[in-house]
Amino acid sequence: DWKMDSFVEESIKAIQEKVGDGKVLCALSGGVDSSVAAVMLSKAVGNQLTCVFVDHGLLRKNEGDEVEAVFGPAGPYNLNFIRVNAQERFYEKLKGVEEPEEKRKIIGEEFIRVFEEEAKKIGTVDFLVQGTIYPDVVESGVGGESTVIKSHHNVGGLPDYVDFKEIIEPLRDLFKDEVRKAGLELGIPDYLVFRQPFPGPGLGIRIIGEVTAEKVEMVQEADAIWREEIANAGLDKEIGQYFAALTNMRSVGVMGDERTYDYAVALRAVTTTDFMTAESAEIPWDVIGKVTSRIVNEVKHVNRVMYDCTGKPPATIEFE
Ligand code: XMP
Repeated sequence: DWKMDSFVEESIKAIQEKVGDGKVLCALSGGVDSSVAAVMLSKAVGNQLTCVFVDHGLLRKNEGDEVEAVFGPAGPYNLNFIRVNAQERFYEKLKGVEEPEEKRKIIGEEFIRVFEEEAKKIGTVDFLVQGTIYPDVVESGVGGESTVIKSHHNVGGLPDYVDFKEIIEPLRDLFKDEVRKAGLELGIPDYLVFRQPFPGPGLGIRIIGEVTAEKVEMVQEADAIWREEIANAGLDKEIGQYFAALTNMRSVGVMGDERTYDYAVALRAVTTTDFMTAESAEIPWDVIGKVTSRIVNEVKHVNRVMYDCTGKPPATIEFE
């Protein structure tokens, strides 16, 4: 029988035996998976662990500071935390790029490059931690289990670029709900454990077409409003994933006496058990209405809001 407390206990023991007094390096994204992996490692080997957090400028509103508050020196964990503010580098690389897979590859490669530079500063490490979970393995087609639909940001690549002896993937056999259970078992706060999944390429794949700093700000603001109102309506626990995306469509609107020609935001909310298939969530119209009027009033250069009614398949959960 599957028991999470013994899984966590045994994982920690196994990690301690494997690592000994070695040095461990972890790429921390602030998402559920890498957070649970990092805390598990820090419980096992304390400050033998260094976590590198790359802020690629494609995170949700205030997310960089939130991650730092938990894992940085002010937080409860005894680990070495390095935050790299690499926003400008990523925006520069993404300039003029519109094709989704090309964007994913650029973000993934630049992430590796930034991470590699930090790793070089640390010197040789013995182990590299990855927060890979079972669905990552399947959806990336590693082991030929499925067709590649989207290139994944978290699997593959990284190990070749960093000087280390062995890889540790403590969550490789777990589904998302099991990762959350493990997180609770480890004493990680609820708000982190029940955080919805967030893709490695971040807002880069929620901005259709070219990514610019201005578009990132639009989608961050719209997304923050959507998430706030979903929580206010008490819907956050029932919906698997919800976020705002910025379509590449501009359309004509009117503001006061002025004509506008601005962007359309798409609201997405899905219910799902395994993220392999999903249904569009039925959000009460008053919630959609409130969010719409807040977004068009509070977010500059957005004059239209749409709700995505499509399930997966035929759509995917993310837009790119
Ligand atoms: P799709 O869009 O393929 O997404 O229906 C399924 C789930 O996977 C997440 N996702 C990613 N997660 N790195 C990740 O860590 C990625 O590159 C990535 N792409 C999609 C998505 O948010 C959803 O939960």
